[in-house]
Amino acid sequence: MFIPERIWPGIADGTRQKALVSRDEDPGAWRAAVYSDIPLTTQWDDGQHRGDGLGTQPTSSNSMPRMVFAMLADLGVRDGDRVLEIGTGTGWNAGLLAHRLGDANVVSVEYDPDIARTARENLRRARLSPLVVVGDGRLGHAGGAPYTRTIATCSVGEVPYSWIRRTADGGMVVAPWGTTYGGEAIARLTVVGGGVASGTFTRPSAFMRLRQQRTHRPPFEAYLRGKPWPADGERGTTSLSPAETGSWLAQFVIGLRVPAAFWRAERYEGGAYTLWLYGADTASWASADHVPGDTEFEVVQCGPRRLWDEVERAYGWWERHDRPGFERFGLTVSEAGQRVWLDDPGDSWAV
Ligand SMILES: C[S@@+](CC[C@H](N)C(=O)[O-])C[C@H]1O[C@@H](n2cnc3c(N)ncnc32)[C@H](O)[C@@H]1O
Repeated sequence: MFIPERIWPGIADGTRQKALVSRDEDPGAWRAAVYSDIPLTTQWDDGQHRGDGLGTQPTSSNSMPRMVFAMLADLGVRDGDRVLEIGTGTGWNAGLLAHRLGDANVVSVEYDPDIARTARENLRRARLSPLVVVGDGRLGHAGGAPYTRTIATCSVGEVPYSWIRRTADGGMVVAPWGTTYGGEAIARLTVVGGGVASGTFTRPSAFMRLRQQRTHRPPFEAYLRGKPWPADGERGTTSLSPAETGSWLAQFVIGLRVPAAFWRAERYEGGAYTLWLYGADTASWASADHVPGDTEFEVVQCGPRRLWDEVERAYGWWERHDRPGFERFGLTVSEAGQRVWLDDPGDSWAV
């Protein structure tokens, strides 16, 4: 009832997409994909991509069932709860919530009017009619406030403060959260009063970013500033394998300690690759060359920030704390901004 005729099935462990599957052309494959535990891309490039191939960026989907149910478990709704969802997509999650709590207790906000219209039709087919609002989910939906639960099904780097403000004290905000560096996890925040919400991360996730918080990634030429590579880069070596920094969890932790930076991998034959690090302001970059089996790796660093040194320090910090998992990290959001912490909310730092 919720899945369109044309879908690009995803792969369970990430956000990569496979080729188009059309219900009209291959009903068996379509049905198999719909009843698999995988995300299904339903729109590319904010609707600009109309062809059969893969677009550049998936921008709407039906989320992976296991993740939808895990997040609903995190949300822990009870009878009488009023829920705000950000990112209606196909409407499936809004439908699950409306089935559980009643149509009148669910509001879902979707930025894309075409997607919202289709979601309403899907929901009607399932005999459900939660309120689907077209708008910028960052602002929530004041008409239905206060909510006792707010859930985002697109990820954020910054939790919009209106989500906290419009959720009642004792209520909960569940949202995929990650820095520009990479890695992402579900933040489960309780609104503790005084306009503050705080809680730990529950599990890793890989959602599409809220439209207005997508990261702009300047091309490498912007960093070289007209000079041939390595420009003013200083060469050095490291004993930390760049590969060690690449897991979803390691990326998440590095992102908590290394602000306004992102990475890209340039891969060669035989498993070797260059890890490129970039400062968001284009003033600094670094590279670290990974060669399988080596114990020393070449590094080049350029600009006022020594980005590889920052990554190495962040990784060392994580190791010294016995490599804590997602669930030992937490997030506190107040009107003054957001802060992250490890184990102790009293010992936090701004992100
Ligand atoms: C992963 S999909 C939602 C999945 C859906 N909830 C489900 O049941 O499977 C993410 C959706 O968030 C929407 N979105 C992105 N930015 C938004 C914003 N600022 N406000 C509202 N919706 C937004 C996208 O258009 C997309 O449809």
